[in-house]
Amino acid sequence: MNGPNIASIIRHYRKCQEEADEACGYRLTPLGAWASSRAPHVFAFFRKVRLERYRLFLDLGSGDGLVTCIAGLFTRAVGIEIDRDLCRTAREAARHLLLLEKVDFVCGDYLSMRIGGADCLYVYPDKPLGRIEEQLSGWGGTLLVYGPHFPLKHFPPVRHLRCARERLTVYGQFSGS
Ligand SMILES: C[S@@+](CC[C@H](N)C(=O)[O-])C[C@H]1O[C@@H](n2cnc3c(N)ncnc32)[C@H](O)[C@@H]1O
Repeated sequence: MNGPNIASIIRHYRKCQEEADEACGYRLTPLGAWASSRAPHVFAFFRKVRLERYRLFLDLGSGDGLVTCIAGLFTRAVGIEIDRDLCRTAREAARHLLLLEKVDFVCGDYLSMRIGGADCLYVYPDKPLGRIEEQLSGWGGTLLVYGPHFPLKHFPPVRHLRCARERLTVYGQFSGS
């Protein structure tokens, strides 16, 4: 049997959307709003940034686990999500896709966790990123921000990537005080 790959991940999540169970689509969660990054575009971005160079990837607000599962094709990946139902959906996806050796999910508030232990962070923001920036003061890793709506203030953008209509900004070392 083939191992997990981007095609199996896309197939799994597409089937989930077609079945339109409660966890698929868009909705409010206890700390924000859930919408999903687009899988083929995220995969293309991760290839461009050579995600396999990183030791630990964290998705801050991992929703249904799509991005964390894709990151698990490259490196060790953990998703942090406040919404219990989405966390359950994400764990089920990782189990179904045979990704549990590389991928894990934690249900909780990432602002109360030591996220600076990772060397690569990803966020598809549902609000401005000031609190994350405060928490990462002095951190030396790479932060990937999906979409153009909430740019960072204290991290310099290193690269702007585009794939069709989707955008990803790669930020480098903290430059604030
Ligand atoms: C726009 S969705 C992105 C989902 C996923 N990262 C993706 O790209 O497909 C943002 C998610 O962040 C979660 N979230 C927002 N603030 C959070 C916090 N402080 N701790 C944990 N999860 C949070 C929301 O519940 C929501 O599911």
